[in-house]
Amino acid sequence: MNLTTQIGNSVEEASFLLKNGGLVAIPTETVYGLAANAMDPDAVVRIYQVKGRPLSNPLIVHVAELASIRSLVREWPRMLDRLSETFWPGPLTVLLPKSDWVPPIVTAGSDRVAIRIPDHPLTLDLIRQCGFPLAAPSANLYTRISPTSAEHVRRQLDGQIPYILDGGPCTVGLESTIIGLEGDRWVLYRKGAITIHDLEPLLGFVLSNTEGEGDHTPGASPLHYAPKVPLHFGPIDLTDPRLQSLSTAVLTFKQRILTNGTAIQYVLSPEGNLAIAARELYNALHYFDTLPLKCILAEPCPDEGLGTAINDRLIRAAGKG
Ligand code: TXA
Ligand code: MG
Repeated sequence: MNLTTQIGNSVEEASFLLKNGGLVAIPTETVYGLAANAMDPDAVVRIYQVKGRPLSNPLIVHVAELASIRSLVREWPRMLDRLSETFWPGPLTVLLPKSDWVPPIVTAGSDRVAIRIPDHPLTLDLIRQCGFPLAAPSANLYTRISPTSAEHVRRQLDGQIPYILDGGPCTVGLESTIIGLEGDRWVLYRKGAITIHDLEPLLGFVLSNTEGEGDHTPGASPLHYAPKVPLHFGPIDLTDPRLQSLSTAVLTFKQRILTNGTAIQYVLSPEGNLAIAARELYNALHYFDTLPLKCILAEPCPDEGLGTAINDRLIRAAGKG
């Protein structure tokens, strides 16, 4: 398909397209999503086609109010109201037993549906104007880097979708934390801005099962969020001969590395702020994708709070997820 892709901030235009079965890229606080009417299987199937994503990898359903979840789920976990009060709108996705109203294509046949209330005024307004929930994965091609600006979306999906709703740069910059109930135990499936330490005061012990984001997510690929060239994750060795090459890029947390080499350097947060580093991460990787590189050397962030989620994405980008 070859459409003209427009970028703008008209919620009316976006809702018109979505109501007519079209796809629209939407801003959220985490990353941009590629949205369709979640109740329209023909529209949802086009999300998979445009992304090149296997039909076995399910999509998150976005709503604007807790009350909108009622008809989408079979059960209402006791802690859902507290979770919602504390974290929604925000970067948390909860897997819940799905009702028959949710088309199977949204959940890739799974019995659970992933739901979140995103924290972006344009998208909340859009969902309310549409009057239906939006199914939306991240608005990148399958296995490529998630977009955190309208321009990132345009670079990957130009000509494939009619409209990108531009809500500015994403304020969190990493995909949402994903949790779900297994029996009576809460499990963490994907690390994000909301950490186990934020969740445990509410939920009690939370089991971490984030190996590959995907033992539980049908069809999830271990090679996620990948730049075009190989990314090596680990402490940077100052004697590494690759530092002498202009076709090497170096990604560090807060300090430039001192070399007399010619490698290109990107410092995520010179002030050492993990929230800023998270916001910058995909920006850096998208920037590297525009350069004629042979490899990227990425240093780990401190393994605490958001740093854990940043490292998780870098490990996946290195293909070791
Ligand atoms: O922050 C985010 O979560 C962004 C924004 C747009 O909301 N969305 C996002 O979607 O990251 P996506 O599709 O790129 O990642 C969602 C992950 C995938 O690994 C998918 O397999 C998993 O969630 N997932 C979605 N629905 C699921 C379900 N019903 N059961 C198990 N895993 C599910
Ligand atoms: Mg994604």
